[in-house]
Amino acid sequence: MIGNPARVPCQIDDRCLVFSVCATGLSVAKPLISLECMVSGTCVIGLQWGDEAKGKLVDLLAPQFDLVVRYQGGANAGHTVVAGDETYKLHHIPSGILHPEVQNFITPGVVINPTTMLDEIDGLAKRGIHCEQNMRISERAHLVMPWHIAEDKMINSTAVRGESIGTTNRGIGPCYRDKVGRTHAIRMADLVQSSRDDRIGTVAEQKLQILTKMGAPQEDLESLEPQKVINLATNWADRLEGMIGDTTETILTACEDEKRILFEGAQGALLDIDHGTFPFVTSSNSSGVGVCAGAGVPPRWINQVLGVCKAYSTRVGGGPFPTELEDATGERIRTLGNEFGTTTGRPRRCGWFDAVAVRYTARLSGVTRLALMMMDVLAHFEELKVCVAYELDGERLETFPAHAEQLRRCKPIYETIQGWNQPVDDARGVEDFPEKALAYVKRIEELVGIPVGVLSVGPDRAQTIFTDASDALDLKPLS
Ligand code: IMP
Repeated sequence: MIGNPARVPCQIDDRCLVFSVCATGLSVAKPLISLECMVSGTCVIGLQWGDEAKGKLVDLLAPQFDLVVRYQGGANAGHTVVAGDETYKLHHIPSGILHPEVQNFITPGVVINPTTMLDEIDGLAKRGIHCEQNMRISERAHLVMPWHIAEDKMINSTAVRGESIGTTNRGIGPCYRDKVGRTHAIRMADLVQSSRDDRIGTVAEQKLQILTKMGAPQEDLESLEPQKVINLATNWADRLEGMIGDTTETILTACEDEKRILFEGAQGALLDIDHGTFPFVTSSNSSGVGVCAGAGVPPRWINQVLGVCKAYSTRVGGGPFPTELEDATGERIRTLGNEFGTTTGRPRRCGWFDAVAVRYTARLSGVTRLALMMMDVLAHFEELKVCVAYELDGERLETFPAHAEQLRRCKPIYETIQGWNQPVDDARGVEDFPEKALAYVKRIEELVGIPVGVLSVGPDRAQTIFTDASDALDLKPLS
């Protein structure tokens, strides 16, 4: 029995103390973490339905950090990073990979399709970027297995309450479902255990039976043949073993050592499994609340959250989208913004900026500064609209409704704002923006209630402007 040990408050050189309790019940004060340490965690979170250009920001900011950490999602994510003449499309791999001095981590909350990841690793190697040098993968991360993709394809084609979720067919939902269900889950660590073939063979047999009963196509069933999956997994293990490790331990130590850490979100907060437009969401916590659980980092290490949103809205897949423009204006935004999915190539649905939705996700994610992206795309309109509230069943609503059916009935209440109608691609400072563009930014700040720290006017690193408000983020752009 440990009993009820007295805690001995004491202070040594301004360091905070944690109390470890020894078997005798005696409390032993042990200095561990400096109170004066610079809290070092910065998160980059998408505030809409994904594709907000988070990858560009993470790549730009990465050199100022020691670690870049991916903590949720999987190959459903598509991060495009433009570096000089080169364009990189990343799915699993953290956007910090382009900087050899930065350590990149894929942590327990991510679901990994090793075949896709190895393709990505090989593609980067051909361009001189060698992931094995500066990337580590958590042994706790779950694997997207071939049966998950077969299940996703089958279930995705079934409408949910009249509308399909429109998943990316990357096996994400079925993999997270097995993670929570536990019985059929396979983790990275399983790849390097002596029990690997047994475990994978047993699950493969069970999945084959289930999918046969579900009526999966013959070609999918053939790929689930247990020995084939075991061979696949053996190859994954051979190739990835050197990169698999305990990222949680390394990241916690990095926090305690006052390293600077950038947490890279995937998807957007409106796709969060608990807080998004359920059921038209992804299967992980893609808002700011997901960082701690996914990365294995307690909240005390996070002090800044950069909320990323486009100057308008887009969405891929099904689900309600109050400000969607199914007309020539929507088409114009799609063409000007090249709004086609990085992962699936699907045309994105486009609409005006929804301040009700972004205010909700910014509060939910603890956003300290906004990054307003794709300002260049809005440079060609006489007039712009911003949704300031919804009308739901005849009532004005300023909060974001929980049910997809309510959101579907919401009609946007718009405020019309004059467009600036001139290119801003060459803007390199706030002073280069037309007044009307700055008025648009100011109105968004007011409506969302958070200052804009970053403005983006194009895909290049140089097309990123840090406003005075970015000082609070303790971030500086590359020189
Ligand atoms: P899943 O994540 O493949 O299960 O797809 C669920 C929903 O999230 C679908 O509407 C997808 O289009 C959407 N989604 C998933 N990943 C992304 C992303 O990276 N960007 C935008 N939408 C995404």
